[in-house]
Amino acid sequence: MKLADNKATLSFSNGAPSIEFPVYSGTVGPDVVDIRKLYGQTGMFTYDPGFLSTAACESAITYIDGDKGELLYRGYPIEQLATNCDFMETCYLLLYGSLPDQAAKTQFSDLVTNHTMVHDQMHNFVRGFRRDAHPMAILTGLVGAMSAFYHDSTDIHNPEHRKISAIRLIAKMPTLVAMAYKYNVGQPYMFPRNSLSYAGNLLHMMFANPCEDYVVNPVIEKALDRIFILHADHEQNASTSTVRLCGSSGTNPFAAIAAGVACLWGPAHGGANEACLKMLEEIQAMGGVEKIGDFITQVKDKNSGIKLMGFGHRVYKNYDPRAKLMQESCKEVLHALGLENDPLFKLAMALEKIALEDDYFVQRKLYPNVDFYSGIVQRAIGIPTSMFTAIFALARTVGWIAQLDEMIGDPDYKIGRPRQLFTGAAQRDVVAIDKR
Ligand code: SDX
Repeated sequence: MKLADNKATLSFSNGAPSIEFPVYSGTVGPDVVDIRKLYGQTGMFTYDPGFLSTAACESAITYIDGDKGELLYRGYPIEQLATNCDFMETCYLLLYGSLPDQAAKTQFSDLVTNHTMVHDQMHNFVRGFRRDAHPMAILTGLVGAMSAFYHDSTDIHNPEHRKISAIRLIAKMPTLVAMAYKYNVGQPYMFPRNSLSYAGNLLHMMFANPCEDYVVNPVIEKALDRIFILHADHEQNASTSTVRLCGSSGTNPFAAIAAGVACLWGPAHGGANEACLKMLEEIQAMGGVEKIGDFITQVKDKNSGIKLMGFGHRVYKNYDPRAKLMQESCKEVLHALGLENDPLFKLAMALEKIALEDDYFVQRKLYPNVDFYSGIVQRAIGIPTSMFTAIFALARTVGWIAQLDEMIGDPDYKIGRPRQLFTGAAQRDVVAIDKR
């Protein structure tokens, strides 16, 4: 970051001396006011619950222009990556900062392919769950448990350990996600096949069975690979901030990523794709397109507590570019599967159209986000609703790792430890219980 030729001055109406703060600029996007000396000079904190105006770190990985609806991974527009690259190239880009040439891509893909199996005893770990355990509960447990199986890559301060654990996590997430699915449906696990692509392997491990051959559908394989690209990273979102804060204690990479999985599960975040599909199914059950007006009325009634899932975003105040690309994938997959008339897709497009013309959404700049269409394409592929967020976690793992590595690799990083505005009871003495 570079010092801007601007400074910020904080003055107080109570006559306390004004203070100047340096302003820094990045490559693009808002400047930052460096307030690190504020508490030392004033004994005061800033107050920003939810971090609406706070840059928690400097990063060179992903940039979002929320007003324009633009998303760049290491400077490359998401539209170009989703059209011209695959997920392995995107992983390489996010981890190492540049797109690989063919030799580097082949070497990276082969490394990932050769780490897709998990320690066999992890199968025992899954058996401890109820059959109907939510896949995200199983995945949170399995990712955390990896720190019990891969002791030779748990030292986050060792760059070699970070490199090995990164490959292990990226390579094994599809295997763990498929294990959660197979456990839910009571089918035997399918081992990864080194001859398949990253996306093809997940399809194989989820939908193949020992009794017959399984052929990966290339249209679905490409759509799934694009879903991974679109979900790979997204700046300092809630789960990435969780991974950074968790990793800042020096804990092992598997534990930090498990924390990200747990945070992503929430319906306000990665769990929105599951919630969005359930919302569409409910509207469909109520009567479909004719009932959209009633549903929108409920959403606008604050007392209903109902939100239009898959809509709105902390940063995007324009159309989420990923939602547009996801809608394209929807059309491609539904066409390939002869499901052009999928009622939920038609309902989603009608709902989007009505919402985008409604003042409530326009005024609040609420647009479809990545979760609005992702459920429809996953459902068309045959992925159950309960697995949507696990697929999101699988794809976001590379982003979490890249962000964690960027933080740990910065010699000046410190353990994250926010402060608070205390509004509880002032000091008081304990009274003996017989006198309370
Ligand atoms: C992801 O951060 C990321 O980058 C996340 C993500 C990633 O890739 O990591 O992009 C992935 O999490 C996408 C978001 C998925 N979540 C949902 O689709 C759930 C529904 N959306 C909302 O919960 C909400 O929009 C959030 C949580 C996404 C953003 O919430 P904010 O930024 O805190 O905004 P807000 O709640 O303050 O909303 C501002 C106004 C409020 O109304 P008023 O108080 O001004 O009257 O808009 C309303 C909100 O009530 N509003 C909605 C709404 N989203 C916001 N009203 C109805 N439906 C919605 N979806």
